[in-house]
Amino acid sequence: MKRDLISMLDVKNDLTDIITLSIRLKQQSKRGKRIEHLKRKTLGMIFEKPSTRTRVSFETGMNLLGGHAIFLSSNDIQLGRGESIEDTAKVLSRYVDMIMYRAKSNEAMKELAAYATVPVINGLDNKEHPCQVITDLMTIQEHKGKLKGLQFVYLGDGNNNMAHSYLLGCGIAGMNIRIVAPKKYWPETYYVEEAKKFGVTVEITDKIKDATKEVDVIATDTWVSMGDETEKEKRIKDFKGYTIDAAMMNAAKKDAVFLHCLPAYYGYEVTKEVAHGKQSVIFDEAENRMWAQIGIMVTLHRHMFP
Ligand code: CP
Ligand code: NVA
Repeated sequence: MKRDLISMLDVKNDLTDIITLSIRLKQQSKRGKRIEHLKRKTLGMIFEKPSTRTRVSFETGMNLLGGHAIFLSSNDIQLGRGESIEDTAKVLSRYVDMIMYRAKSNEAMKELAAYATVPVINGLDNKEHPCQVITDLMTIQEHKGKLKGLQFVYLGDGNNNMAHSYLLGCGIAGMNIRIVAPKKYWPETYYVEEAKKFGVTVEITDKIKDATKEVDVIATDTWVSMGDETEKEKRIKDFKGYTIDAAMMNAAKKDAVFLHCLPAYYGYEVTKEVAHGKQSVIFDEAENRMWAQIGIMVTLHRHMFP
């Protein structure tokens, strides 16, 4: 049966297995062992928004797996000039073994997944960014040796794809999560309620003072996500005071790590000093996009062809 990765909830039963597999394949590959589990398989990658990491990490990851990836910008394929999502999904499913989709909307993502007969992987939409959050949890696991019981804090835009996937991801991983954001940027209730169902502590607050006190992991994301550009000036005003700086890092546990999915805008959501500082793991995190997606693609393929 085909299996998609649209939301973090799609991996609620095997997140640990995917992270373990990703770490194992990373280690094997670095030791020089071949990891060609998807030999001669093809990944189609549809992009409706720009990307550096997602595009390159999926393509290089597929190459390491012995397969091949095709970059499909929505500007250059018929989807961009009105061909339906349904027909695009049905046609691509006849050529490729898996589809990665970076979509403007979560509705379009779900529609593509509904009509595709091959696995569909969400490479970011307006509601979630599951590949990034699985990557981030893998990176935390590598640096801290565990996930369960850690205190995670996210500052900034609480109503974006990263905040929503962090809520679900922390819940599934058994990590307590605090989202610190101005009230009008609080997450959608659905994600907060779903996270709570996993029994972790979920706090949503606009209290910046002590936000990072004694925490294990600090994360942020851009204040202006793709699609929010017209609100840029307003958002910069609204998020005043939410910049993660050295003082905020010092309030956290001594061995706390800093995460950012990138791209980062220094001086806004984080200072460059912190992002490039000794507690930051942002470049391990960027590298791990490739290893986590290798684990994800192998898992989805195995599910279809056990
Ligand atoms: N973090 C992330 O998804 O980066 P890109 O937009 O460069 O793919
Ligand atoms: N929240 C950001 C993530 C970029 C990888 C955006 O959607 O633009």
